[in-house]
Amino acid sequence: MTGQVSIIAVDGPSGSGKGTICQLLATRLGYHYLDSGAMYRLLALAAKRHKVALDDVEDLAVLAAHMDISFRMNSSGGHPEVILEGEDVTQQIRSEDISAGSSLVAAIPAVRMALLERQRAFASAPGLVADGRDMGTVVFPDAPVKIFLNASPEERAKRRYNQLMDKGESVSLAALVENVRSRDERDMTREVSPLVPAQDAVEIDTTGKDIQEVLNTVLDIVRTSEMSAQRS
Ligand code: DC
Repeated sequence: MTGQVSIIAVDGPSGSGKGTICQLLATRLGYHYLDSGAMYRLLALAAKRHKVALDDVEDLAVLAAHMDISFRMNSSGGHPEVILEGEDVTQQIRSEDISAGSSLVAAIPAVRMALLERQRAFASAPGLVADGRDMGTVVFPDAPVKIFLNASPEERAKRRYNQLMDKGESVSLAALVENVRSRDERDMTREVSPLVPAQDAVEIDTTGKDIQEVLNTVLDIVRTSEMSAQRS
């Protein structure tokens, strides 16, 4: 708990099912939802718009601290919309260009520092589901529930492959597997906030599991934690 706010920190690599699980979990519990990856994506887009170079550490940190961003639930059904300077950029921040940019800005310590307080500000009653790479290790180290979702590189590449096929883009599955493996290596060994499970995180391997099965496992973990908090 942070005051009376219950925090559920969910970390893991992309393709682990994190985003979907976090949104379902937040809806089920009536909690707020923080998509911290979207913040790094928003920074990459804001930098592009304001012509800040992706290696200009000082200006990027200032932009990270002051960019005008917000999140809102869309009216027709539960999907969070991402807003930059009043404009809905939910689709734009998912482009390949912005994905690559977000990964670069996310490796800059001053940027991570500038976004830290902005991420923590999402913690409000009754609770928060925080989705990212360092939610349990850095941003919310006292969160009573920490989950680390993972899946085999092959499964994560297959999920990405299916998404791209749905969008009508043809790609090689073997190339995607290679991509996933090299990104894992980079994310897990980077100096600042590497992607590693917190010591007290419960790890869940989602390989071969459907969404409902994973959601039920996570809900069980949350309930167990609530019961032990009530007893103590
Ligand atoms: O989860 P995502 O793909 O939207 O994240 C975008 C980028 O930001 C990705 O390169 C990982 C990085 N990221 C991070 O370093 N720390 C977080 N808490 C969330 C995302």
